[in-house]
Amino acid sequence: MTSPAITVPLVKVAMPPRQLLMPALEQVLYSGMVAEGEHVYEFERQFAQTFKLPNALATSSGTAALHISLLMSGVRPGDEVITTAMTAEPTNTTILQVGAVPVFADVDPLTGNMDPGSVKQCIGPRTRAILPVHYAGYPARLTELRQLADAHDIALIEDCAHALGAAFDGHPIGTVGDFALYSLQAIKHMTTVDGGVLTMQDSTALPLARRLRWFGLAKGVPRTEVDITTLGFKYNMHNVAAVLGLAQLAGIGALVQRHIDNGRHFDQALRGIPGLMPADAGPGAEPSYWLYTLLADDSSAVERCLADVGVAASKLHRPNHLHSIFAPYRRPMPALDMFYKRLVHIPCGWWVSDEDRERIVTALKKG
Ligand SMILES: Cc1ncc(COP(=O)(O)O)c(C=O)c1O
Repeated sequence: MTSPAITVPLVKVAMPPRQLLMPALEQVLYSGMVAEGEHVYEFERQFAQTFKLPNALATSSGTAALHISLLMSGVRPGDEVITTAMTAEPTNTTILQVGAVPVFADVDPLTGNMDPGSVKQCIGPRTRAILPVHYAGYPARLTELRQLADAHDIALIEDCAHALGAAFDGHPIGTVGDFALYSLQAIKHMTTVDGGVLTMQDSTALPLARRLRWFGLAKGVPRTEVDITTLGFKYNMHNVAAVLGLAQLAGIGALVQRHIDNGRHFDQALRGIPGLMPADAGPGAEPSYWLYTLLADDSSAVERCLADVGVAASKLHRPNHLHSIFAPYRRPMPALDMFYKRLVHIPCGWWVSDEDRERIVTALKKG
């Protein structure tokens, strides 16, 4: 028997209502000001305000924001960055991009997030930064990671690409690290088609971050007088993306809340099913459930069982150390091996209706 067509995808592009978005896009497209400008700065203000974040800078991608944050953390060729392999590749390709060495910490077997105990063992004289990912929207153990970073005088960079709207100990994620980055790529909670946001604790770091975003040039200084003293990049957001971002922000509260409501529903409804266990980020964590993380004795069986009712489920990512370019940095990670074997993500975003939820729960209970 062939499975029915998938009607509940694992990820889906969120677009604001046409009647809201199209007039705004038309206005900016024909305004004569499509490059970086006032819409970008307004987007930065509203993004920071919406998610209660400090000092936000809009970028062309989350990867660009991460690149800037590594440079601003003082990571230089040959330095080490403690990171996680349980993430999308840009977390770690960007470490190689600055010529640094990724040191893969093992993960918490219940979330796939960086394990602070393993991080502690990875810290050495060349360590410059710790780079946790709030994987799939489940907050990493930030209090312990902050303590380690402070004890060793190294930077903490939060990769919040999956975790817009999540919190830890009552604080929005992204406010514990020295730097944080968000991705506005196609399938995230919200999208500007491609885009990102960099935030930082220290407002005096903003001018340098702005220059790194724009070839090393300072905006506002006449082009014939400005002097590049530090190499920068073409990492700015443009007005068209910012207008899309502003339209996204208008509905983002309800959208993220639907992820959270679905996730909390599954946390209850999928408890106690033999062979299955919901991920658990522990005390203080308030996930924003970009994906719902299930741990299964037989993850392939879960994928098949849900495919039979038209629901997509998968592991989605490949642990990064398995790529050939990361082969030199492989080290034993027994908890990651166990987590990845059991991992299966199921859909829990804004597009998952109450009926879809029940279909998923019923199918998983039947097994
Ligand atoms: C965990 C993680 N970090 C960083 C990024 C990079 O973001 P972007 O695609 O916006 O460059 C992504 C996006 O795929 C991601 O999933």
